[in-house]
Amino acid sequence: MAKRMAVDHQLVLTGRRQAHECAGDLPPAAHYIKADLSDPVLSARHLAAKFFSLELGRLDLLIINAGIGFHTSAGREDVVMVRQTLDVNLVSSIMIVRQFAPILEASRGKVVFIGSVAHRGAANMPTYAASKAGLSGLARSLKSEWKGRIGVQIIHPGPTRTTMHAKAGYDPGIMRKLFFSPEAMADEIVQCIRDDRARTQISIRARLGRLILRRRP
Ligand SMILES: NC(=O)c1ccc[n+]([C@@H]2O[C@H](COP(=O)([O-])OP(=O)(O)OC[C@H]3O[C@@H](n4cnc5c(N)ncnc54)[C@H](OP(=O)(O)O)[C@@H]3O)[C@@H](O)[C@H]2O)c1
Repeated sequence: MAKRMAVDHQLVLTGRRQAHECAGDLPPAAHYIKADLSDPVLSARHLAAKFFSLELGRLDLLIINAGIGFHTSAGREDVVMVRQTLDVNLVSSIMIVRQFAPILEASRGKVVFIGSVAHRGAANMPTYAASKAGLSGLARSLKSEWKGRIGVQIIHPGPTRTTMHAKAGYDPGIMRKLFFSPEAMADEIVQCIRDDRARTQISIRARLGRLILRRRP
């Protein structure tokens, strides 16, 4: 996504790795801020302080993409996993938008949340699903509160062949072949953002549905 957005945006990227560890992955001219979102309050403040020290003057698009999950049944999740999932996926999103709302408004900008089709519920990933449902509620609330001032969009990707499943302790087996490639998903998400599309579920089912509709005379 960053590589695609770099074509027409000045980027400020963030991740929990040290800058030198991801230097080769960053588009040229992108700024990088290291921040670990498992501490939502401190990392949001740190991100804002570092961003404003760059003196870029405006913020047109804030994309909140970082996310984690753990594959385990509801009764077996340990509280560290639960808290970490909620902190990274949901609480840090709330804290970050709070820090950046004034400059987004001054720039007539937009915030984009990367949710998940799991926001409707996902067996064996209950906290992840809850965090994404929470993100959905957050986006809907801000959309109504910020109407006419700051754009709000939430995009719900379907399963994609990233490293997320291995990190979550989940092996999708042969099903992985049906997942979106990261490149195809990045194309879809960037297009959704550019079109400011209201309905933004990106799943194989939704893609097939669109193709079928397009073929109807
Ligand atoms: N892959 C899917 O099937 C799928 C489906 C629906 C929605 N999504 C959503 O898409 C988004 C991107 O996920 P992905 O599939 O691209 O997985 P990914 O490759 O694991 O990317 C997640 C990113 O979040 C970062 N992150 C995790 N914990 C963090 C922390 N404490 N502080 C800062 N950054 C942290 C990761 O950093 P590290 O590289 O250091 O781990 C990684 O860069 C997530 O919000 C995910 O929920 C994914």
